[in-house]
Amino acid sequence: IPVRLTLDPAFRVGPVRRRTFGSFVEHLGRCVYTGIHDPGHPTADQDGFRTDVLELTRELGVSTVRYPGGNFVSGYRWEDGVGPVDRRPRRLDLAWHSTEPNTVGVDEFMRWAARADVEPMMAVNLGTRGVQEAVDLLEYCNVPGGTALSDLRRANGAADPYRVRMWCLGNEMDGPWQTGHKTAHEYGRLAAETGRAMRMVDPSIELVACGSSSSSMETFGEWERVVLTEAYDQVDYVSAHAYYWEEDGDLGSFLASAVDMDHFVESVTATADAVRAAQKKSKRIHVSFDEWNVWYQRRAESRPPSGDDWPVAPVLLEDRYNVADAVVVGNLLISLLRHSDRVHAASLAQLVNVIAPIMTEPGGRSWKQTIFHPFAAASRYAAGEVLRVAVDAPTYETARYGDAALVDAVATHDAETGDVTLFAVNRSTGAPAVLDVDLRALPGLRLVEATSLANPDHTWSATADDDTSVAPRTNPTAEVADGRLRVQVPPVSWNVVRLG
Ligand code: AHR
Repeated sequence: IPVRLTLDPAFRVGPVRRRTFGSFVEHLGRCVYTGIHDPGHPTADQDGFRTDVLELTRELGVSTVRYPGGNFVSGYRWEDGVGPVDRRPRRLDLAWHSTEPNTVGVDEFMRWAARADVEPMMAVNLGTRGVQEAVDLLEYCNVPGGTALSDLRRANGAADPYRVRMWCLGNEMDGPWQTGHKTAHEYGRLAAETGRAMRMVDPSIELVACGSSSSSMETFGEWERVVLTEAYDQVDYVSAHAYYWEEDGDLGSFLASAVDMDHFVESVTATADAVRAAQKKSKRIHVSFDEWNVWYQRRAESRPPSGDDWPVAPVLLEDRYNVADAVVVGNLLISLLRHSDRVHAASLAQLVNVIAPIMTEPGGRSWKQTIFHPFAAASRYAAGEVLRVAVDAPTYETARYGDAALVDAVATHDAETGDVTLFAVNRSTGAPAVLDVDLRALPGLRLVEATSLANPDHTWSATADDDTSVAPRTNPTAEVADGRLRVQVPPVSWNVVRLG
């Protein structure tokens, strides 16, 4: 498949934002317990955190981590998770039909975040709770001292405030599955009043209003319009959540999932801008794409326990990812990057065990899923400005999204170092693509490295015994000559070409 691409520094979209490479830790299944926290594990530190997972988190290149949910947050009492561990209550977690032991709470998470070198991003409960509890948690986290809750934090061992910047005003409040779910109008008012009060405590915070929990919600679009109409002045971001999976063997549509993500971001920003125009505002609302991934929602692993069974940290949502899943995750990263003018933050959902790039055995090994690789490479090599790439590729027909390009790509350009990185996927299931990239607007570039993640069997999945067979490999076909890069990329592949 011949494909022509053009790179030009004039095609600038916006800066590479570190917060694009965020992730998510929810009290769900084994994400927290036996995931990040496993006191009996041989690598556990003084707080019971697995240092092998901390190392993998750093290697993944995660920037921000959203916490503590997710659906979990909509029934959460943050006070349960602070103070002496042996006095913390065990509670029913209605979202996941589990028992929450509260062994890990805000203070433990903040210590973990500092060790993982990530920025914490907190969510407040606007399902079963409201303005007061949100303000209380903010006081506990961000006020230096001299008040009941800030002094409580100090007594619990944190002399300095955490100064958490990003706060989510609830989670997926449009979803009927959400504890305390609301109409757009009810939620918009609550988000506005909670945001207003939180800013009285700390005006430096950045606030995220809940957008639709997926673009397939019946209220998608109208929800955003109503919520932002109520809360425009109080919030900085509107959230977007999207999960994709291969359905009924339709690999072609699945590989084109980024078409939907593009549409999602463009629809949400258009709606936010329509409210901006109607209200005659100068400020713009940006997108926090704070849940995205491949998730096989219909598989049994996604079904919570039921009846009298309320286990602690059950096996839930432990999807095993194959090569095609990794290519889709890489393509979704391309979509997020090419919208860096409006997507200012994003969170891969989730980090460990639960629909996750990192897996653990309780007390045992940790390993990387296939989706670990595109995320780690994008986080590591995207630098400077994002460049839109002009792609002239043949298309193929998909059942879900109509005609889709066989190749999709984005690039970044670091004006200081001169480094350029091209990220590209080949969505063809049968043929390699030969990329012919016009680099004449960026003279003097040489090839630094070209890697491809692919496998003759795109259903190959990593395991604890073998998580390296599909690590990205050097692509020996890449060459740069006469202002052109030429590289052949395999079918169903994620590719990174570094030039400098
Ligand atoms: O990430 C898993 C779940 O997906 C989250 O708890 C929820 O917000 C979303 O529906």
